[in-house]
Amino acid sequence: QQGPAFDVNAMTLTRWVLAQQRSAPQATGDLTQLLNSIQTAVKAIQSAVRKAGIAKLHGISGDTNVQGEQVKKLDVLSNDLFINMLKSSFTTCLLVSEENDNVIEVETERRGKYVVCFDPLDGSSNIDCLVSVGSIFAIYKKTSTTEPSLSDVLRPGRELVAAGYALYGSATMLVLSLGVGKGVHGFMYDPSLGEFILTDPNMRIPEKGKIYSINEGYAAEWSTGLASYINEKKRPETGKAYGARYVGSMVADVHRTIKYGGIFMYPATTSAPKGKLRLLYECNPMAYIVTEAGGLATSGEQPILDLKPESIHQRAPCYLGSKKDVEELLAHLKK
Ligand code: AHM
Ligand code: MG
Repeated sequence: QQGPAFDVNAMTLTRWVLAQQRSAPQATGDLTQLLNSIQTAVKAIQSAVRKAGIAKLHGISGDTNVQGEQVKKLDVLSNDLFINMLKSSFTTCLLVSEENDNVIEVETERRGKYVVCFDPLDGSSNIDCLVSVGSIFAIYKKTSTTEPSLSDVLRPGRELVAAGYALYGSATMLVLSLGVGKGVHGFMYDPSLGEFILTDPNMRIPEKGKIYSINEGYAAEWSTGLASYINEKKRPETGKAYGARYVGSMVADVHRTIKYGGIFMYPATTSAPKGKLRLLYECNPMAYIVTEAGGLATSGEQPILDLKPESIHQRAPCYLGSKKDVEELLAHLKK
């Protein structure tokens, strides 16, 4: 006489974060509050990305809504959501967004001790054709007692207290790590509940994969070491060639790399010696997650997490993924 299985004790993201807070006796609840505000932003972004309410916005056609107002671009809307939710959590003092040239200072009355760097909607070139996009965030705790300043932001990724990303793919997933040694945990969005549910606790990246992921269009500008590595993947002396996958959305490419193993690369090229990806809100948070999941993340010269940022939008070459694959790449780069 029992109905279909229905989880009456589901581990939601909110519940899980609260449990982490309760297990740390010195915790004030600020990080919990901050993560709740990110969760709200992500829920709203996923709804917008999936075009919920499109009929109301578009009327019959066009880019203006029924009031004749221009419909906000998704990346602008995502940025506004992140900024508004973070500021109103009363837990942050400085924000760095890919969309803003300068550091955003939170008004004194709403300040808290955390510094957040984020890319509210990464993969902008993929938005209009409906390919997966994502949000990325990295969280530092302000350690200085002075007024918030750039030095509170320009810190190596090793100093992060938490990082994560949301992937708006065939489903929405939020992946999070709350510190070194605390693991990487994945929460799938259940639209019928409006909640993220813990579906992937303790995510571990396979030690070695079978996929390489890079924009091969720029092959003429690669270093000889990188070219020889990719050549080896395509024409191995023994075994089967690697498969190639490249979405062109970092979050999707990195998430696949964590789930299936392999290597993701956005290299230095002759015309872009620091690559394309931004250190503070793309490379660092992803390196943090991949490293915490048992993989490696390098700039080719040193671990991404050891790079000392000099400016908020600075770029860095980024190679990350399965431990053995990244080690193999490094051996080629050193040749
Ligand atoms: P964006 O922040 O303008 O969206 O650019 C970042 C994206 C990443 O998601 C992706 O890994 C990369 O750009 C792809 O770049 P390319 O088209 O040069 O391969
Ligand atoms: Mg981006």
